[in-house]
Amino acid sequence: MGETPVLQEPLSLTDDILALRVWRMPDMVIYQHASDEWWLTPLDDHLPLVRLNRMGIELLNSLDGHVTVAWLLEKYGKWVCGPDGETGRWHLERWSLPRYSLCYFGSEPPTGQHRSAAKWDLLLQQIREGWSGAQGFEGADHLATFHRQDITTQEGHFDQIETTVSHLFREPSEALQGLTYGRVLAKHLRRLGWWNPKPRCIVEVGGGLGYVAQELAAELSPVEKDGVRYLFLDITSPFIPSQLKLARKAGWHGSGTQGNAEWLPLRDATVDLVIDNENLADMTPVQLTKQEALSGKGATPLHQEALDWIRRIRLPLEPDLPEEFLFNLGPIRFVSELWRVLKPGGRAVLIEFGIDNGWPAPVKLPGHTEYEVQYTHL
Ligand SMILES: C[S@@+](CC[C@H](N)C(=O)[O-])C[C@H]1O[C@@H](n2cnc3c(N)ncnc32)[C@H](O)[C@@H]1O
Repeated sequence: MGETPVLQEPLSLTDDILALRVWRMPDMVIYQHASDEWWLTPLDDHLPLVRLNRMGIELLNSLDGHVTVAWLLEKYGKWVCGPDGETGRWHLERWSLPRYSLCYFGSEPPTGQHRSAAKWDLLLQQIREGWSGAQGFEGADHLATFHRQDITTQEGHFDQIETTVSHLFREPSEALQGLTYGRVLAKHLRRLGWWNPKPRCIVEVGGGLGYVAQELAAELSPVEKDGVRYLFLDITSPFIPSQLKLARKAGWHGSGTQGNAEWLPLRDATVDLVIDNENLADMTPVQLTKQEALSGKGATPLHQEALDWIRRIRLPLEPDLPEEFLFNLGPIRFVSELWRVLKPGGRAVLIEFGIDNGWPAPVKLPGHTEYEVQYTHL
C-alpha cells in the first residue's frame, strides 16, 4: 500500500487543535508488560507498539471527553511518558492520527447510534478508506476481480488482508477452552444432529487455507469421516492446493475446484452439507438508487436482477429509502444456488459478519472492500 507523506507527519498542535476535547477509542486492549510498563497497538500494524510508563498510562486514562488537548499538553507535554523516551507532547501529536487511532479530537463527542452512542464505526470507516485509497462504491465486479486476479499467493493473506476469526483461532486457544474454531464448529454440528446420519457429500465454499476443514477432521472420528467426500470450491485458485493438502492430511477424502459460489458448478440435489465460513461479505454487491427501486427499472442488467430479487423476496421498501443503497446480490444468488444443489433435507452453515436492520454498509479492508450481510434479506 502506498503512503502519502501527510499520513506519516505528526499533528501540529495549533491553537484550533488545542481547543478540542479528547476521547479515548473504546474497546482498546492494553497489555501490561511489567509492573510499570504498558503496551498499545496503533491501528496500523506497520507502526511500532506504543510503550507507556506510569505517566503515559495516566495520560491515556485521562482521555475522557472532558479534557482538552491544551490541558493534556500542559499537564503531560514535557514529561517522558514511555520507556523509549517520548514525551506526552510526542504522543499527543500522534494518537489521534488515523494510523494510530488511539483517540479522537473534536469539539463534539462522536455521537451516533453505535457503541455507547459513539460513532466510532464511522471514524474507523474513514480511516480504512485511507488504507485502501478508495472512496465510495467500488463497483459490483471489484470483489471477484480482487480474488481472481489480485491474490497471487496465499502467503500472509489471512494474517494481514482478510483476518478471519477462524484463522485467528486455527490453533487451540484458551478463549475456546483449548479448542480450535473448526473443532468448536464440528462439535456444534454434531450436537445439532447433523452427523446423524453423517453427510456423504460436503462442499466447503471459500475454504481459505483449509484450516476449518483440517480442524473439523481433527474433531470427527475416523468413522464419522469414513465414506464422506469433501469438495472445496473457491474463486481464488492459489488457495486450493493448501486446502487440499491440509484436508487430505487430516483424513478427508478431498477434492477441489475453482468456481464462483454465485453460480455453483454442481448438479441439482447432490450435496448433503455446505460449509461457508466468513465468505458471504465477499460476494457481489449492487448499489441501487431510490429511483430504480421505486420504478422497478434497473439502469443495468445487474441492477435489474437485483430489483427482481427484491420483488421476488417481497422486500419492503421503507418510505425513507436512501437516495442510494447497497443490496447483497451475491449472497442472495448463493442462497438460491444452495436451494438448488442441496439434497432434500440437506443443510448449510453460513457464517459471516452482518446486520439485521437497515441496508448493508461497506467495510474497507486493505486493498479491497467487503459488504455487511443483511441477514433478513437472505
Ligand atoms: C474471508 S476468506 C474466508 C476463508 C476461510 N473460510 C476462513 O474462515 O478463514 C473468503 C474465502 O472465500 C473465497 N471467496 C470469495 N468470494 C468467493 C466466491 N464468490 N465464490 C467462491 N469463493 C469465494 C476466498 O477466496 C476465500 O477463500
